[in-house]
Amino acid sequence: MEFRDLVKARCSIRAFQNKEIPSDKLQAILEAIRLAPSAKNLQSLEVVLVKQKETIKKLAATTLKPQPFIADANLILVFFANPKRIAENSDKRGIELYPIQDATVAITQAHLAAANEGLGSVWIGSFAEAKVREILQASPRLRPIAMLPVGYPDTKPIYQERRPLNDIIHNEKI
Ligand SMILES: Cc1cc2nc3c(=O)[nH]c(=O)nc-3n(C[C@H](O)[C@H](O)[C@H](O)COP(=O)(O)O)c2cc1C
Repeated sequence: MEFRDLVKARCSIRAFQNKEIPSDKLQAILEAIRLAPSAKNLQSLEVVLVKQKETIKKLAATTLKPQPFIADANLILVFFANPKRIAENSDKRGIELYPIQDATVAITQAHLAAANEGLGSVWIGSFAEAKVREILQASPRLRPIAMLPVGYPDTKPIYQERRPLNDIIHNEKI
């Protein structure tokens, strides 16, 4: 899809069909993650690919408020910040900030790549971090940043209002 069209077409999808994701589409999403920019190209992120239904159900139960649609996804990508990869190459600010930004930009690329493949996904940022770590046996040094349930949409796109450009963009100063 043309990039401008993709940016307009993308929206959060919160209902999924029970239909397997073809491996070429999954590969396209994973490659978008791999090619994401990162601070100093240190790629301070880790991504766990979850396909097992039992684990998907457990992850769906970690949200702070109920979001049961997550359990219907056939795939969840869980993005972690990994400060260890940047520790020797950055100051305190960089160690705190860059792994989170590295994970965040990769999530964005995965979310857009899914839409480009005709798949739906939604950024899940509200969850109990300790529970996610426990389910995926992640080291305490890894911080879960977001989960991305992915699947074939079982709903029409719903487009949310945005602030007008002149409210967000400030010319030369703010
Ligand atoms: C940091 C972040 C956290 C989010 N957390 C959740 C979440 O926990 N559950 C959810 O359903 N959507 C979540 N979303 C999706 C937003 O609700 C959604 O992007 C926003 O309402 C705009 O709608 P759109 O994506 O359809 O354009 C999150 C998005 C971001 C960027």
